[in-house]
Amino acid sequence: MRTDQAHLLRQLVGKAPPRQRAKIITIVSGKGGVGKTNLAVNLGIALSRSGKTTTIVDADLGLANVDVVLGQYFDHDLEHVIKGEKRLEEIIGLGPYGLQIIPAASGVQEMANMNPEERERLITELATLEYNTDFLIFDTGAGISRNVLAFANLADEVIVVVTPEPTSITDAYALVKLLVSTRAARSIALIVNRSLGLEDGRATGERFMTLAERFLRHKVQFLGVISDDVIVSQAVRKQRPFVLSHPDSTPSRQVDAIARSLVGETLAPVAERGLLLGLKRLFGGR
Ligand SMILES: Nc1ncnc2c1ncn2[C@@H]1O[C@H](COP(=O)(O)OP(=O)(O)OP(=O)(O)O)[C@@H](O)[C@H]1O
Ligand SMILES: [Mg+2]
Repeated sequence: MRTDQAHLLRQLVGKAPPRQRAKIITIVSGKGGVGKTNLAVNLGIALSRSGKTTTIVDADLGLANVDVVLGQYFDHDLEHVIKGEKRLEEIIGLGPYGLQIIPAASGVQEMANMNPEERERLITELATLEYNTDFLIFDTGAGISRNVLAFANLADEVIVVVTPEPTSITDAYALVKLLVSTRAARSIALIVNRSLGLEDGRATGERFMTLAERFLRHKVQFLGVISDDVIVSQAVRKQRPFVLSHPDSTPSRQVDAIARSLVGETLAPVAERGLLLGLKRLFGGR
């Protein structure tokens, strides 16, 4: 393992280095604008605050916005890594509680369109994270694209974010159907965001899980509910994540609960699959 910047960052914030392989989580949605990036950032902060080394990869290669929600901007991004100008450890940004952020390549093409050298570089560099972080969270763009499927394929757990709106549910169902039929996801969990009360969220979640089980024969795990709350949109406008500005609010407590259940889950032993292996198999590295 290299004495990289991440290592130095951890020393700075007093976190113990991870002892096992990172738990890889990919956040997806059918419909756009349902709250993926807000979840990624606030969950990332909650996990970091609980002492887990956590890294968010802004994998929305088209429209970067983890930095906007965080209110922190970074000089370098994945594009520099893909082009071979920087090592991954040189572009990792440091957020609240030592949260590590890998900024998206602004305006970079689909991974499938990168030349083999660029793809190889991205894969090799991303794989250095595997034993350097407890949680690795990919925040993806909405809907079905090759990138989203690729990042889903890497994950130990794919988190599907829905809102109680029917359009969000039907789009999420179509995405889950694809994830299941292409075997792109090992484990799928659901978060209902913008719930109007706990019952609304639970009912939405249960309907979705019943649909998936009945028609896709797939068991989707219910990970939690996040309430619709004006502090979330205010936080976005003020560019200060709500778990920091309103730690005792309902959404913050709900995000903390989700973080706790993720920490409590055991990682399936997958001897044959590491991030690097997975990535190379997917994209055809060396
Ligand atoms: N729980 C909530 N309560 C109130 N508003 C919310 C909540 N969650 C998200 N929003 C609103 O929805 C907007 C979109 O959220 P966000 O950018 O996280 O969605 P996204 O799924 O990442 O979007 P995209 O698909 O474009 O990447 C936020 O700016 C915020 O105003
Ligand atoms: Mg987003």
